Amino acid sequence: MFSIPDFGDRRRGFLKGSIALALSPWLAHAAQAAAARRLSVRVAQASLVGAGNPRTEVWGYDGAVPGPELRYRQGERLRIEVENLLAVGTTVHWHGLRLPNAMDGVPHLTQAPIAARGGRFVYEFDLPDAGTYWYHPHLGTAEQLGRGLSGALIVEEPTPFPVDRDLSWVLSDWRLDRAARITADFESPMDASHAGRIGNTVTVNGAIRETFEVRAGERLRLRLINASNARIYGLRFEGHAPRVIALDGHPVEAHGPANNQVILGPGMRADLLLDCSGAPGAIHRVLDDFYSRRPYRLLDLRYGAERATSGRAGAPLAELAPNPLAQPDLVRAERRRIVFGGGMMGAMPSQREHRGVYWTIDGNPVHERDHLHAPLLTLARGGSYLIELVNQTSWHHPIHLHGHAFLVLTRDGQPIMRPHFADTVLLEPDSRAQIALVADNPGDWMLHCHVLEHQASGMSAVVRVV
Ligand code: C2O
Ligand code: CU
Repeated sequence: MFSIPDFGDRRRGFLKGSIALALSPWLAHAAQAAAARRLSVRVAQASLVGAGNPRTEVWGYDGAVPGPELRYRQGERLRIEVENLLAVGTTVHWHGLRLPNAMDGVPHLTQAPIAARGGRFVYEFDLPDAGTYWYHPHLGTAEQLGRGLSGALIVEEPTPFPVDRDLSWVLSDWRLDRAARITADFESPMDASHAGRIGNTVTVNGAIRETFEVRAGERLRLRLINASNARIYGLRFEGHAPRVIALDGHPVEAHGPANNQVILGPGMRADLLLDCSGAPGAIHRVLDDFYSRRPYRLLDLRYGAERATSGRAGAPLAELAPNPLAQPDLVRAERRRIVFGGGMMGAMPSQREHRGVYWTIDGNPVHERDHLHAPLLTLARGGSYLIELVNQTSWHHPIHLHGHAFLVLTRDGQPIMRPHFADTVLLEPDSRAQIALVADNPGDWMLHCHVLEHQASGMSAVVRVV
């Protein structure tokens, strides 16, 4: 007998026992190529706040928060069979990936919800771009993500980028009561009409962390993922000079972040090169002071007693190769403008006529529950577009477009220093930004604020590419 590769439970469906396998190596090969990784969506218990404290009932991919870190190589094909064991429907959206529209995981737009209590759906698509991405539900997202459903999806470059360690920090924000239970106030009008559901507990990879262990002399590639409903992070690495090498998965000219603070709105990612320049035994804080009246210590970088022997800290920087994205033709690009309005202290839709809708896009008050998907914009496939995003509200909005990456070009009319590709752009209150893209992926794609309570209560629309 030769050893049988692990087909998981799929094997039963494809092959009747090992005799067929022994007789037909070709069949075995075909079955292996078709084998899907499985990912369950279910209720689980997690130790978010640490030993000695109550555990928290969460919803997790494979029962974990965050879900398993999925790693692929650029150019590989992802194939995942999702099994929904929740008591409600769900979908999986692969945030930031350029994939076929039918795989985008938007309920009532690209697929039917995966049914509660045992529904299944196979997601399958190629991965053209390297970088840091993530996955999360797109149905009742504020509650489903707020209860724990999110995970990192890393697409590695064909040649590994030279670092000592490559890791991700999934930043999640929870609203917990005194017994460490997630509070159920997901439909709070107060949250929806203000900054969204900002919680009281921040976890890094699913737990409150006191420390993160490092070694003197090592170079880390730290992939930060903001998987929080509404919280914006502004991280400072005391005593260190991290350099940003990618944003939303796509390479950017390596640079120190403005004011030494890495700002990430919900949905956004940053890849940092962190040279561990501290001394053995040292402790340095990582702080978050985005909300200046509520600063806190995220964790301590704690240096071990030993130096990293083959540490790369201080070595010259290698460059990440760009992803194969079409460059928009800025001279011939057609112009569009999208205006975001509403919210407290703004022109809110009347609550008498538009219950639960606090935000508008181009004046439209539409609630997520109504699944109204008439396109806001229709773009010609292959065309270049220059789109101005105008925030006429007093609030921050991380605006996210599915299925594409766009160039961020200007803010408030000023060219930004390093134009870069992204899938989410954080608009400051009363500000605007210009983005440009080639509409090269056909289908109906969501454009929405990634503050999930804003998305549900009006700040969501469809961009059609035909
Ligand atoms: Cu990360 Cu439409 O979402
Ligand atoms: Cu918003």
